[in-house]
Formats: sequence, C-alpha cells, structure tokens
Amino acid sequence: MNQGFKFFPDQASKFAVEVDTLYFVMLGLAVFFALLIFSLIYIFAVRYRRRSEDEVPQQIPGMLKLELLWSGIPFVLVMGIFWWGATLYFDVFKPPKDAMEIYVVGKQWMWYVQHPTGQREINELHVPVGQPVKLTMTTEDVIHSFFIPAFRVKKDVVPGRYTTMWFEATKTGKYHLFCAEYCGTEHSGMRGTVVVMDPPEYQDWLSGGAATEPLEVVGERKFQHYACQTCHANVAGARGPTLVGLFGKTVTLEDGSTVVVNEEYIRESVLNPNAKIAKGYKPVMPTFKGQVTEVELLQITAYIKSLAAGGN
Ligand code: CUA
Repeated sequence: MNQGFKFFPDQASKFAVEVDTLYFVMLGLAVFFALLIFSLIYIFAVRYRRRSEDEVPQQIPGMLKLELLWSGIPFVLVMGIFWWGATLYFDVFKPPKDAMEIYVVGKQWMWYVQHPTGQREINELHVPVGQPVKLTMTTEDVIHSFFIPAFRVKKDVVPGRYTTMWFEATKTGKYHLFCAEYCGTEHSGMRGTVVVMDPPEYQDWLSGGAATEPLEVVGERKFQHYACQTCHANVAGARGPTLVGLFGKTVTLEDGSTVVVNEEYIRESVLNPNAKIAKGYKPVMPTFKGQVTEVELLQITAYIKSLAAGGN
C-alpha cells in the first residue's frame, strides 16, 4: 500500500512499467521542446530587437531546407509516439488466451468479485503474482469504472454489456482499487484492495475460507431454477437449441448471418432472446430481464461454458 505522499503509485504490473516509460518519454519530449521554444523566443527577442526608430528589418524569403526539417522532425516524433501508444493500447485491450478469468460486478456502491472456482469477495480482489488475469465486468446499475492505479489499468464498467481488461501483477502486496467514474453519493467510498499473492499462497487462499462451490455448479442450479432445461433439453426436437458443446462455436441465425457464442451472446440471449434467433428455431423464449441478476448470468454462463468443455 502507498505510504506517505508519492507522485506516482507503485509499479506493480507489466503495464505499469510500459505505460510509465511511454509517459516519461512524452513528458521529456514536451519539456525539451517547451524549453527550446521559450529559450529561442527570448534569445531572438533580444538578438533581433529594433535598435533604432527608423530601422527596417532585412526581409527573409524563406528556406525550404529549414521548413522540411522542422516539419519532418515533429512528424517522425509524433508518428513514433502514436505507434508506441497504439501498440501498448492494443496490448492492454487484448487479454492473452491463457489468462485466468475473474468476474466483476459493480453495484452502487461496491465491487462484487466472483472467482470461477466459487470464491466471492466484496471490495477485494485476490490474484496470484506473475499470472495474466482477465476481468470480465458488468454492473447492476449505473456506469462505474474499475481502476487499479498500481497496475495502470482502468476500464469502464457499463450496464447492459461486458467489458474486459487484463493485467499481470509483478509484485506481491496490497494495492488500491478505485471506482473512477462518478456514480452517485457514495462514489468516493466505492474502493477496495487488490491483494497480489505468491501462487502457493494464492492456492491456500482459494482453498481456505468458507466452503464454496464452483461457479458452474451454482450456475447449473440457477439453470434449473429458471427452468431453462425444459426448452434447452439435449434431445432432438427440443424447443430450444441444445447448449451442450455450444460455447465458443459459431452459430447460424435465422437471417443467415453468424455469431460466435461468447459471454456477450449468452447474456443477450437470456435478456433479449429475440435479438438473435438460431436458425431452425422460433422466437418463443421469454425474456428474463429483471428476473436474473448479473451475478446469476455469470453463473449460468459458467455452466453453459462447462457444457462445452466437459461435454456431458
Ligand atoms: Cu462506482 Cu463511482
């Protein structure tokens, strides 16, 4: 945790070092050119001042070489910064395939964290060091923003959709977690702690505490609670498509277009079933909007995912 006053938060992720390097290079360039330009203004003001009342300055017709030089140098510098920044942005945007998945639901005014293995936390996030972690995030109410300054990552959490972000912690310890989007009276209190642990310690943490069920087990129960299996039965002629082996597949829709079955598609199909009807099926499914919570959606999705992996 930060102690005392610091200009910069800890550097506790891979991105922290990369983002800061880019930041300081840009800051350095800005300071260099600001000093250069201000010095030149003063030097030229003194050097080329009018020395007598009737002095007529010498006319300068322009100099192509100089013009090219002072257009060329900034162009190269700016394109360099753009390329560097864009590369970093895409890195931050795209989680690696082997990233560990954790789910986050924002709510006025707390963070709910759900691990696939079943552990739940409020305003705390435990992660292992040296392991890419992908967060899939949404909110029950308004827009929040998940911000871990020590990792230099921040992403808005938006109602009605999933946003993702990822990081790889490089230093064990405790770090601040903030909501970075004004979300109502207690926005400033919507903060927590990210605890980065050594992998063995993390395993201990996972197995300790209250007995928990894996997310997909809870999801299966919810699936039955909402009677999803009455239509999505794994038999020929069922009213809804089977969900076995579905996750990750590409599905053809009624209008001939295709869609990849991911978290977003499942979420939409539960809340707005008629948006994308799989080919060969009728739009008979009722919406579960207002009945299913975001957390339940994550549980049900985990169950559907497990149907693809296990294929039972
Ligand atoms: Cu949630 Cu500000």
